[in-house]
Amino acid sequence: MSEASLPFNEKYSPSIAKVSSGEKRKQIWEESIKNPQEFWAEKAKAIDWFKAPTKVLDDSNPPFFKWFPDGELNICYNALDRHVKTARKNKLAYIWEGEMGEVKTYTYYQLYREVNKLAKALKDLGVKRGDRVAVFLPVIPELPITLLATTRIGGVHTVVFSGFSAEALADRVNDCGAKVLVTADGSFRRGKAVGIKDNADRASSLMTNIEKVLVVKRTGQPVQMKEGRDIWYHDALTAAGANAYVEPESMKSTDPLFILYTSGTTGKPKGVQHGIGGYLVWAYWTLKWAFDPTDEDIYWCVADIGWITGHTYNVYAPLSLGITAFLFEGTPDYPGQDRWWQMIENHGISILYGTPTAVRMFMKFGEALPLKHDLSTLRILGSVGEAINPEAWKWYYRVIGKERLPIIDTWWQTETGGFMISPAPGIELTPLKPGSATLPLPGVNIDIFDETGKPVPAQNKGYLVIKSPWPGMLQTVWKDPERFKLTYFGRWPGIYVTGDYAIRDQDGYFWLLGRADEVLKVAGHRIGTVELESALVSHPAVSEAAVMGKEDVVKGEVPVAFVVLRSGFTASDELRAELIKHVRTTIGPIATPDAVIIVNKLPKTRSGKIMRRLLKAVLTGAPLGDTSTIEDEGSIDDIKAAYAELQYQLAAVAAKKTQ
Ligand code: PRX
Repeated sequence: MSEASLPFNEKYSPSIAKVSSGEKRKQIWEESIKNPQEFWAEKAKAIDWFKAPTKVLDDSNPPFFKWFPDGELNICYNALDRHVKTARKNKLAYIWEGEMGEVKTYTYYQLYREVNKLAKALKDLGVKRGDRVAVFLPVIPELPITLLATTRIGGVHTVVFSGFSAEALADRVNDCGAKVLVTADGSFRRGKAVGIKDNADRASSLMTNIEKVLVVKRTGQPVQMKEGRDIWYHDALTAAGANAYVEPESMKSTDPLFILYTSGTTGKPKGVQHGIGGYLVWAYWTLKWAFDPTDEDIYWCVADIGWITGHTYNVYAPLSLGITAFLFEGTPDYPGQDRWWQMIENHGISILYGTPTAVRMFMKFGEALPLKHDLSTLRILGSVGEAINPEAWKWYYRVIGKERLPIIDTWWQTETGGFMISPAPGIELTPLKPGSATLPLPGVNIDIFDETGKPVPAQNKGYLVIKSPWPGMLQTVWKDPERFKLTYFGRWPGIYVTGDYAIRDQDGYFWLLGRADEVLKVAGHRIGTVELESALVSHPAVSEAAVMGKEDVVKGEVPVAFVVLRSGFTASDELRAELIKHVRTTIGPIATPDAVIIVNKLPKTRSGKIMRRLLKAVLTGAPLGDTSTIEDEGSIDDIKAAYAELQYQLAAVAAKKTQ
């Protein structure tokens, strides 16, 4: 999205909702910033505490903030037990649809029963308070059940997205020191059974701590079960007994709840650690403000539970609010390109929380497909993961929303725990602007800084920062407090740096302009260029690699790799294909490079740093740019030659792709 094309002044008022100026929202936001202690003390009352907190925030050791430090609670109790004691007991918690179209439902009571059985089984396997449980599952009901069972007994979960490679799984499991892994034989993709357990098995020689592996039978495909280590999930539940009940552990609000690995600018993905009390308060209130769910809603967040969006908005927020959520295992365009619309019609879904990549894909499929279906139950549409470009926003608004429904574009991050900037119909819906996530939620003290740490004037691009702690914020990076301090608070004291560029317009609306660092967003998935480069360099043919993001009409951005070969290797189509495959198997299919460009040399500064600005210029077709700085940085002739070679190789690969 280029800044010049942002429609700062276009305003939309969906006809379903009352849209007003935002006075009430502004008042609540100001109140939350002026008196955060009172504000959050009041909001924390929505949670069932075993010991109510007497203190809201311990900020004695910044940036290690402690929310509700003396409170005690159990998150699974908040998600299940408290509803089971009320008329919600028989309300549906989940409606799940599998890839092959099969449907399973769970009332709050049924979910509670399943969670208790698994909690007992995990206890029997020796999982204790504070122990880490690794989860490598597709989106099947056993996934949220595992998270809830783990937290019921005080365990800490680490979910690894089931599309990641064996190596990526092992890295994460080893870093967090999990001793139990919950996985499945496989899952269904495009109608075919694909293996998951085999990936876990490949990882097993690298995973030193894992003592027990629980295996869910999903596809029924043959798998190897290692004697003494691997146990079928259903056998473990049978052994736990039909009447199993496990008392929910009373946890400190500041105890860790989960670790979720996410990409950054350096080295391996970092373990973002969230705590219990602050995170739950944030999950509960942010969903309430942004999507305003009611008892009548069927709410569908399309994210995989392997990512933060699924953690917060498929598990903890909807269940703590006691609403009915829909879960889908599969692919949006299988068996037909109207799969989403068919499911919305079949289940009467009323809140759809989707992604810009999916919207752009559906735009390509054409509007006839959604128009064939009855989408009249929908009342709210959401978006997350990357900026939604104004064109996609307008399509979503017009074709799916019929100009009646609000588009809730939510900006946030793995680290923030939940929504930070978004429209808030649960407080007051302000006019929408296509492509803007609108305004900060209560408690979000946000600003845009220039290079020197000064706030920039309206309409100017800068670094998006957060100036005060908020309940949903990460506690630390697992086992690496220094990295936490340095990564997020290292640039300006006391200021959380998001890593994103943004602009605030004259109405105070925020426009997110993508990452300011070397992190890519591929179809909304976060991947560090460093991870991709390390994967490439781990191949024997590669001596150097530089990966850049290139704009893509559907995925937003795709990785393109420039590589230099070791002597003895020559460029060929086979080698390029092999390198692409190598990245897929080292990280996972989501990291697949769009192209690998083999060059003789990468442009470097005199101090040996790869000149990324120049690579970007090649990819965007921009001119070489201001050569005066380049002259400082290295030999201009070398750079010009490298630039010409890059252009030539890029064009050659592009020509082959279209053949
Ligand atoms: O660059 C922003 C982008 O996604 C990053 C966070 O990625 P991750 O931790 O994987 O979390 C994704 C789900 C919350 C942000 O730094 N991003 C996320 N949502 C938006 C967005 N960019 C623009 N608009 C959004 N709504």
